[in-house]
Amino acid sequence: MEIIVCKSYEEMSERGAAIIAAAMKEKPDFVLGLATGSTPVGMYHALADKNRAGEIDFSRVTTYNLDEYYPIDPKNDQSYRYFMNKNLFDLVNIDKANTHVPDGSAADPEAACRAYDEAYAKTGYADIQVLGIGRNGHIGFNEPDAALTVGTHVTGLTEDTIDANSRFFASADEVPTHALTMGMGTILKAKKILMLINGKQKHEVLTALLDDKITTAVPATFIKLHSDVVVICDEEAYRG
Ligand code: F6R
Repeated sequence: MEIIVCKSYEEMSERGAAIIAAAMKEKPDFVLGLATGSTPVGMYHALADKNRAGEIDFSRVTTYNLDEYYPIDPKNDQSYRYFMNKNLFDLVNIDKANTHVPDGSAADPEAACRAYDEAYAKTGYADIQVLGIGRNGHIGFNEPDAALTVGTHVTGLTEDTIDANSRFFASADEVPTHALTMGMGTILKAKKILMLINGKQKHEVLTALLDDKITTAVPATFIKLHSDVVVICDEEAYRG
């Protein structure tokens, strides 16, 4: 696992974008694995800047996102589909047909998860998978538990998460109770993992990531089993 410590969020975002841009230039039909959350937004905007400047081309790029709420209308401004359109897809010359987010409006979510894994497998998996990390060590919606799931699956949201998210929705009834998420096995299929971590509040979890243990109590520690991982963090996350 390679660790790059940056002075600021901006530097972290630029370093991440530079790694993705360099790899995209080598392979025009790039497969990019994506995460939502506040951490990668700066990097997505830096990628959009590079696209606007003609440095990188998204026209043949395919993307697969980690997760989505369930049930949720993709047009809902709290959906991860909406987030990705706003923060990346609408800002670059990507063909939306090549962008994939688990279907939060599927009538049969289990079948949608299986179809997602099958379609993703056909791409040969992500050349780079972007990851953020929760303070409790979750990646995607793989929360700390006695056991983790391998493939893309439906998972219940904790009461805490539902509570925390209710402020973003018009009414409590609208808050999704479940999510669709790639499993740990799906995530580890990516050829390279690029994890971004910033802020003091992530110091404890970064420390757990840097020790020599893996545990389902901190799902992100499973990325230590992958042979090509780059963690880019800021000094606040690194030093606490
Ligand atoms: C979202 C995802 C989550 C976030 C994590 C950190 O697609 O995979 O695991 O990466 O919750 O979120 P932020 O970046 O908002 O701290």
